[in-house]
Amino acid sequence: MRHTPLMLSLAAALAVSACAKNETPATPATPAASSTAAAAPATQAAAVTDEHSFSQPGKVRTTDLALDLALDFAKKTLSGTATYTLDWLDPTATQLVLDTRDLTIAKAEGLGADGKWAPLQFKLADTADKVLGTKLTIETPERPKQVRVTYTTSPNASGLQWLEPSMTAGKKQPFMFSQSQQIHARSWVPLQDTPIVRFSYTAHVTAPKDAMVLMSADNDPKAARDGDYSFKMPQKIPSYLLAIAAGDLVFQPITDKAGVWAEPGTVKPAATEFADTGKMIDTAEKLYGPYRWDRYDILVLPPSFPYGGMENPRLTFATPTVIVGDKSLVSLIAHELAHSWSGNLVTFSTAKDAWLNEGVTSYVENRIVEALYGKPRSDMELVINRNELKAEYNEENTPLQKLAGKPGELKDPDDNLSSTVYTKGAWFMQFLEQRFGRENFDAFLRGYFDHFAFQSISSQQFADYAKANLLDKYPGKVTQEEFDQWLYEPGVPSDAPQIASPTFDAIDAARKAFLEDGTLPSSDATGKWTTQEWVHFIEGMPTTLNLKQMEALDAAYKFTGTPNGEIAQRWYPLAVRSGYTQANEAISAFLQKIGRRKLIMPTYNELVKTPEGLKLAEATFAKAKPGYHPITTGSVQAAIDGAKSKPAQ
Ligand code: BES
Ligand code: ZN
Repeated sequence: MRHTPLMLSLAAALAVSACAKNETPATPATPAASSTAAAAPATQAAAVTDEHSFSQPGKVRTTDLALDLALDFAKKTLSGTATYTLDWLDPTATQLVLDTRDLTIAKAEGLGADGKWAPLQFKLADTADKVLGTKLTIETPERPKQVRVTYTTSPNASGLQWLEPSMTAGKKQPFMFSQSQQIHARSWVPLQDTPIVRFSYTAHVTAPKDAMVLMSADNDPKAARDGDYSFKMPQKIPSYLLAIAAGDLVFQPITDKAGVWAEPGTVKPAATEFADTGKMIDTAEKLYGPYRWDRYDILVLPPSFPYGGMENPRLTFATPTVIVGDKSLVSLIAHELAHSWSGNLVTFSTAKDAWLNEGVTSYVENRIVEALYGKPRSDMELVINRNELKAEYNEENTPLQKLAGKPGELKDPDDNLSSTVYTKGAWFMQFLEQRFGRENFDAFLRGYFDHFAFQSISSQQFADYAKANLLDKYPGKVTQEEFDQWLYEPGVPSDAPQIASPTFDAIDAARKAFLEDGTLPSSDATGKWTTQEWVHFIEGMPTTLNLKQMEALDAAYKFTGTPNGEIAQRWYPLAVRSGYTQANEAISAFLQKIGRRKLIMPTYNELVKTPEGLKLAEATFAKAKPGYHPITTGSVQAAIDGAKSKPAQ
């Protein structure tokens, strides 16, 4: 066990939130299960704000986006046109304001009543906001039904990564992929980059003949690789789910509705690792109603992918680091699949309500894991996450410990505190499940997904729905005060449900024996350990071990150089803290090979704490940087800069 006590705000445990009632109203509800968001009345819609977008969804909303793009690997650009079909909510509006970042805008046109395109005046703001990018204002005095923008992306687009052939598994062809969440879609398409706006889309993309292009749309497993691709996404999605990838990609089916896209050398092991995907879909459908997105395919990206997974509709993007051979990390797929309900179907209306996506999804993920792999496994995963939360919470980050954040608290939406939105969010759901009973709570969630299907909602809308369909429906189970404490206060309520994990009790005992007299757990036992057991074994170690202990563990279990990134994520920081410099070479190699932020940042953060470590971090970063995604580069640079600006310890 970690020694960091759970930071419980006493005030939080006692106080009832006063701010709960003053939330900004978000997207008004439209009829249940409708895939075409009805136009909101202008007066209501005008109140909707997203501090992370320049666009004015209260005045006008994009209902459809048509892309026509050329993909150029040599120039590292996408260029062409974006055509918006617009719903003018405000009959007096005279401008269309779009979000952009590092885009070159060639022209803007409006479709006239005569059916002809005519130029529109436009202006890119003189200064770019570091977080939000550059506002694009198009003069639209006649509120045309359609507007078309001709543009080119920058090779440094924050939402795209362009990989040289050497950075791919096959080493022969270049590769590119997008990561639009949270606000990076604007770096590859000028658009209303806020989840308040939902639109269907089509795309026509040209690319070199040997590159397969895929999008978060109706990819055809049998599509001819001819350099000319067309896509359609008929369901309305928020901008952060817009996705594209291109490279030497081939397909292998898992079921007739699900399959894997990957480079040729990766597709087989990936399909084997993810063989349970069909069962996961069945499990989720049984609990929460039909999967509404047609196919569910997984695209395995190169190791530089900055996240574990991304729930791009119909085409989850996944890191190759979860392919470890024993299916022990497939909760990632359960998670991204779960977003097909919590996130993609019912979406947060602004990033400060991120828990509505990630917290509910982490809960659903755990239910799928429990159903498929049993409670011991799902409980281990909960314990690991909750220990991380306990380690992450401190007095300084209390504003970010609130599920429903207030405007202004979240500067950069990429900085959301993950233990709050994921783990506290899921814990809140588990709390409700326990109090109301699983059967009632399952019915509630299913009803919630149906009620808000294809809509973007706020925490307040969730709270109102829960009051009517849980708290008031089953009186005496959870008070409004308890509910509000979870939603609006920092910390975790002291009566939050706890997990008992007998599997981890055995691991704790094994670790204790090792720490007492160096006894190593028997290979009979460790032979059966999965990733979760190893992670817990290492995470519960004291802050540092002596060299003899480190050597003994390494000799027995070969942690240094492990191909399992989850184990590396825990072992290398311990090695750095313990001065176990024998691991330095392997650490450097790991940090160069993997770009997934969660796996590598703990080691960077540990390295930068000492002058020698900082040197290794900087030297490694210099070599790794050309292969890192812009998001990862940003995080590593910030860790190094942060350490350098601090006085030496
Ligand atoms: N939607 C997230 C990824 C994300 C969140 C990207 C916020 C950008 C901003 C995705 O569903 C996710 O949660 N990925 C996790 C995996 C998971 C199993 C918790 C990750 O990448 O680690
Ligand atoms: Zn997620």
